[in-house]
Amino acid sequence: NLPLRVKIVEVGPRDGLQNEKETIPAEVKIELVDRLTKAGFANIEAASFVSPKWVPQMATSKEVMAGITRKAGVIYSALTPNMKGFEAALAAGADEVVIFSSASEAFAQKNINCSIAESIERFRDVAAAAKQHGLRLRGSISCSFGCPYQGEITPEQVAGVVKLMRDLGCDEIDIADTIGVGTPRHVQTVMQRVAQEFPIAQISGHFHDTYGQALANIYASMEVGVSIFHSSVAGLGGCPYAKGATGNVATEDVLFMMQGLGVHTGIDLNQVVDAGQFISQHLGRKAVSRAGNAIAAK
Ligand code: HMG
Ligand code: MG
Repeated sequence: NLPLRVKIVEVGPRDGLQNEKETIPAEVKIELVDRLTKAGFANIEAASFVSPKWVPQMATSKEVMAGITRKAGVIYSALTPNMKGFEAALAAGADEVVIFSSASEAFAQKNINCSIAESIERFRDVAAAAKQHGLRLRGSISCSFGCPYQGEITPEQVAGVVKLMRDLGCDEIDIADTIGVGTPRHVQTVMQRVAQEFPIAQISGHFHDTYGQALANIYASMEVGVSIFHSSVAGLGGCPYAKGATGNVATEDVLFMMQGLGVHTGIDLNQVVDAGQFISQHLGRKAVSRAGNAIAAK
């Protein structure tokens, strides 16, 4: 009993690239976003207006947002940890701003330098400003299935943060597996618990493939009604505050699975493969996507 269609949010340009050591020129990021736009994504996470001291790679976000060729109807999202970030995202023309906290207290401290409760207080102004300016508001909850500092995270803890994000007025809430430790049954339990607090149609699964579980977790999430997923072209990524974390699940792999299942995405897999090869060539390494590399080798 799978959904007939899913929304794939391409997060490669932000989540994927944020951890790269070498500065990637804005033109390369712009070309990547443009290729992804042409491939048919309805939502691309393109930028992050965070402190450049914390995440230097995202310091080009303003140029990237100014340089991309936008397609009508496509949502270009940007991370905004505070009002300073919000003002920058607004000026850059973001369609959606993303506030991000964690199901883990320890991770919130490392990632955003405050407690979960403090982060929600900080986001209150961002949320209000987003509504005032008619921007979409998305909330992202890291470490929903486990934390590198704190270990186990209960479904109850995740649901608690979902309620806080819901009450801020989020249009969409991401249940994120930052370190990729979730497994299918666990994922279903968490998704079913959070669906008691927030409409399942507005919940997304953000899976990292560190332990090879991401596709299984996506399938398991679809079985319980989730129909929005995040993925990263060429499997780009890693998190600066989660040691050893690998990239998000590769978009090419997700699309190949959806195609096989007959689940509609509206995205052209071949164009995504090309975009993945383009950015991987720039980074000087092979794409981290089985499907992407298999298709590219044909
Ligand atoms: P702080 O040091 O506590 O805050 O950082 P502060 O207010 O004291 O600011 C420190 C300096 O940063 C100041 O500059 C500010 O002006 C500047 P100084 O006076 O020292 O020259 N600053 C900013 N500059 C530009 N844009 C801003 C901004 N804010 C402050 N928005 C803060 C607190 C939240 C800012 C910091 O901790 C931060 O930027 N954290 C972001 C960390 C991050 O981006 N992590 C990765 C994204 S989350 C993620 O990847 C997970 C996700 O994918 C889901 C998953 O997989 O789990 C979403
Ligand atoms: Mg992530």
